[in-house]
Amino acid sequence: MKIKLAVFFGGKSVEHEVSVITALQAIRALNPDKYDIIPVYIDKNNRMYTGIMTARIESYADIPTLIRQSIRVVPVCDGGKALLVKYPSRFGKKVISEIEVAFPMGHGTNVEDGVLQGFLQFLGVPYVGCDVLSAACGMNKYTQKILLRHEGIPVLDCVKIKSSDFYSNSKAAVKLIEEQIGFPAVVKPINLGSSVGIKIAENAENASEALEHGFLFASEIIAERAVQNLREINVSVLGDSSEAEAGECEEPIAADEILSYDDKYKSGVKGKNSGMVSLSRKIPADIPPELREKVRALAVRAFQALGCSGVARIDFLYDNSSDELFYNEINTIPGSLAFYLWEPVGVKYPDLLDKMIGLALKRERENKSVNFSFETNILSGARLGGTKGKM
Ligand SMILES: Nc1ncnc2c1ncn2[C@@H]1O[C@H](COP(=O)(O)OP(=O)(O)O)[C@@H](O)[C@H]1O
Ligand SMILES: [Mg+2]
Repeated sequence: MKIKLAVFFGGKSVEHEVSVITALQAIRALNPDKYDIIPVYIDKNNRMYTGIMTARIESYADIPTLIRQSIRVVPVCDGGKALLVKYPSRFGKKVISEIEVAFPMGHGTNVEDGVLQGFLQFLGVPYVGCDVLSAACGMNKYTQKILLRHEGIPVLDCVKIKSSDFYSNSKAAVKLIEEQIGFPAVVKPINLGSSVGIKIAENAENASEALEHGFLFASEIIAERAVQNLREINVSVLGDSSEAEAGECEEPIAADEILSYDDKYKSGVKGKNSGMVSLSRKIPADIPPELREKVRALAVRAFQALGCSGVARIDFLYDNSSDELFYNEINTIPGSLAFYLWEPVGVKYPDLLDKMIGLALKRERENKSVNFSFETNILSGARLGGTKGKM
């Protein structure tokens, strides 16, 4: 029996387009003998669509036409199953398909940060990748640092600034960075990806500008020391909290000081759908074996400390002159699902996807032993005492 696998992608996120590429690459790699694949494209208003057009990259050159020619759907739970139903469903066949496993392949807000994961959890359908808490922690650059520091993982000190505090007293916000972090400092929105909204503040004068820029994209930012003589090393981890392993390390090569959205997704693009694979990068990273092992071991520890599942990519900042290594961030649904970091260690993409789906089913089995109802008679004699709500 094939598994009915719904692949969710797109969504209300600045990384919407990249997610279309990630998902369509993965759909092509999933073993058709094992899965009935149901693509579910989420538009920028979080409306969901399915149909053959949603699985074709050419369709995305004209999204209004794609939407017109696709079926609007909504996932619901009914009779102990998760179903994908037509919306609105007044006429004809109502149920498009059952969903046996959901595979979120969105990047960024609403789709990678626990929001979609919470919806899937609510539906009671097993889903691939991080659960609500680990996805939410993985998206928040501040929360993950605090948690990982507690676990002994080296992270850079940072300060968090709210936009309301900045706009009521911008001098105090800049002073906080000056005193706690120093310059040059990197200013980043707390919950974005793809380098969106990030700037380096060289001094107090342009820190305000960097903060304003960051607040265009998020209501909180973090500021941390800019690592000098920077080399970036990324590695992927596959597994869950009981068993996890690291893949190959890569070194992305930045064209600019900050690895920008264009560097990540557009540089060296040959075909429009080459995604993260097209980024100029060295695989394996040209680093000494001891550093490679240090990065891989720290990545597994961080992945497990955050309670992740499936495949993640963990990015490190390495100071080439001081030999210091810092955990920078996790991508809990990495671009192209980081398959290109698994092929060099002998894991083919279809097998990687099988393993990820296997982990979702394993978590489902484990969760089934947890009780969600508790016999109580608390409501049998309960009364609401008037408008003040006394019992
Ligand atoms: N502390 C830092 N020092 C120097 N460069 C940094 C620092 N933090 C981030 N960068 C640069 O900015 C890029 C994006 O930052 P990152 O924290 O990875 O955010 P995003 O989630 O947007 O990818 C990094 O890939 C790196 O090039
Ligand atoms: Mg990054």
